Amino acid sequence: MPDIRTIGVLTSGGDAPGMNAAIRAVVRAGIFYGMKVFGIQKGYNGLIHGDFTEMTLRSVSDIIHRGGTILQTARCPEFKTEEGIQKAVDMARVFGIDAIVVIGGDGSYRGARDLSKHGLGVIGLPGTIDNDIGCTDYTIGFDTACNTVQEAIDKIRDTAYSHERCSVLEVMGRHAGYIALNVGIAGGAEVVLLPEKNYDITKDVIKPIIEGRNRGKKHYVVIVAEGVGGAIEISNAIEEKTGIESRATILGHIQRGGSPTVYDRVMASRMGVKAVELLKNNITNRIVALKDNKIVDIEINEALEMKKNIDESVVELSRILAL
Ligand code: ADP
Ligand code: F6P
Repeated sequence: MPDIRTIGVLTSGGDAPGMNAAIRAVVRAGIFYGMKVFGIQKGYNGLIHGDFTEMTLRSVSDIIHRGGTILQTARCPEFKTEEGIQKAVDMARVFGIDAIVVIGGDGSYRGARDLSKHGLGVIGLPGTIDNDIGCTDYTIGFDTACNTVQEAIDKIRDTAYSHERCSVLEVMGRHAGYIALNVGIAGGAEVVLLPEKNYDITKDVIKPIIEGRNRGKKHYVVIVAEGVGGAIEISNAIEEKTGIESRATILGHIQRGGSPTVYDRVMASRMGVKAVELLKNNITNRIVALKDNKIVDIEINEALEMKKNIDESVVELSRILAL
């Protein structure tokens, strides 16, 4: 296989804080190792339509602290068709691109795998606030999103305390409860509802709140993951069944923005450099991951097969600490 000399970098799927730090790392490390690096705008959309800019060291100045992604992102249905993939591959060839670094989630990796089947080299970097990618212990953006939610919980606690109310907070995570569980522990929630687990409103929500009241609690925080949904209905049921005033807040996309934390910046930087080091050694079709606190790389098909489950002992811990 010839040396990889020209690479592209794109962000795909939902944005996540730290994606810019990852782009910066790919561009700087790529140029350091003598590669030409193209920034591809709006994910696979930009790849299909040739929306490329050659990046310089200065293209990524002053972005490490910025949320979102300077390359912008998109969900691209056309890319899921054979015709779309072929257009993307042809476009990459026109610009002499040998390999592409894809920063995104599982969906984006499936697209990357399709590119690799057409002979284009790919490396995936985990970028999503959900932390729900099977092959890695950590995804870029998770820490920042959790800290954003934490700040909101702390504020909500102030007003819940003042009014002796219950606050029901819906956080992101359509299919995964990692944000909900993490902030449930960090924010001292009485109840945490996860999409991975069925719940019964009486047994799992009303009962622990009444028991808490009987033990002297005066205000309550309930975290509901987006995939569970129904925060307003849950709040109404609490008020109706317990007589405790309750208010619902849906945090929404505020969780996706904001300046990345130190952890996300460092993780994104390490993973971005790892991606380029693989390419420098002509290694492609891998996903960069964090495993047991080490940055590793996993073959893309194997990575897509890997599953990760909510740790039951952590769920139990959150219940114990809510007493
Ligand atoms: P994420 O990467 O965060 O999981 P999506 O699931 O929205 O986000 O996927 C992002 C993009 O990746 C999609 O818009 C599409 O272009 C591409 N993609 C997703 N799933 C597939 C698939 N099964 N095959 C090919 N491309 C896919
Ligand atoms: O995957 C990240 C995520 O923020 C999920 O937590 C959420 O369900 C989804 O994206 C929201 O997507 P959109 O930005 O399309 O509303």
